[in-house]
Amino acid sequence: MIIPRFIAHRGANRLAPENTLKAFKLAEHSGAKKFECDVLLSQDEVPLIFHDDTLERCTNGQGLIRETPFSTLKTLDAGEGEPIPTLTQLLSWFQDSKMLMNLELKYPHHHAPPEPLVEKVCTQIAPFQNRILISSFNLEALYTVRDALPEIKIGLLIDQETHHKLGLSGIADYYKKLNAFSIHYDQHLLNPQTIKKLLKITPHLLVYTVNDLKTAKILFEQGAHAIFTDEITHIYSEALSSH
Ligand code: G3P
Ligand code: MG
Repeated sequence: MIIPRFIAHRGANRLAPENTLKAFKLAEHSGAKKFECDVLLSQDEVPLIFHDDTLERCTNGQGLIRETPFSTLKTLDAGEGEPIPTLTQLLSWFQDSKMLMNLELKYPHHHAPPEPLVEKVCTQIAPFQNRILISSFNLEALYTVRDALPEIKIGLLIDQETHHKLGLSGIADYYKKLNAFSIHYDQHLLNPQTIKKLLKITPHLLVYTVNDLKTAKILFEQGAHAIFTDEITHIYSEALSSH
């Protein structure tokens, strides 16, 4: 799998509401080769493309998305009249697109039990697994992914909590045991020394969320492989005009 350097974080989320089909289509239109999105379950276990635990920020609904049935969620406006996409709807568009996807499994916390989200997601994405990189902050959930889809590319998502709790040696253990492909790091936890050490664990260091080309270029010079960005359109036009 070739990893594009710039990954549209939650789609082209400055041009359309984040994590909607419109945002993914506009990311592709902007020239992005890859997008990231988040997946979680409704109360009745329908996999949905959505970032937050609660509905308020991104929809006209209220409450916890995991405690709301799909019959209610499908009536909500996720911005500009766009619905919250189901994973099924996303894959129906994705199968005809040329893009790559990083699908992030979202749990209420890092240590939530992995089932049944993994099981439902893996069944649906199996036909497209050569174009999907799957990641999660819930590293234990990734073992269930590995069992379900032995060939799929797996990325370890690392935030401050995991960085401090596991340290680089603990992260390296997970990376080896999961036969992972990449490590996705919060840019605020990185410095040139940490990057050097991480590059001994993985050749694929992906950094989130970087919104300017200058920082992106510094990270690439230091060995990062790709960045997640909210500014896919700006970054692409700037990157193209600086050549
Ligand atoms: O996958 C990178 C990034 O999306 C992780 O953080 O909170 O934006 O899902 P978040
Ligand atoms: Mg995400």
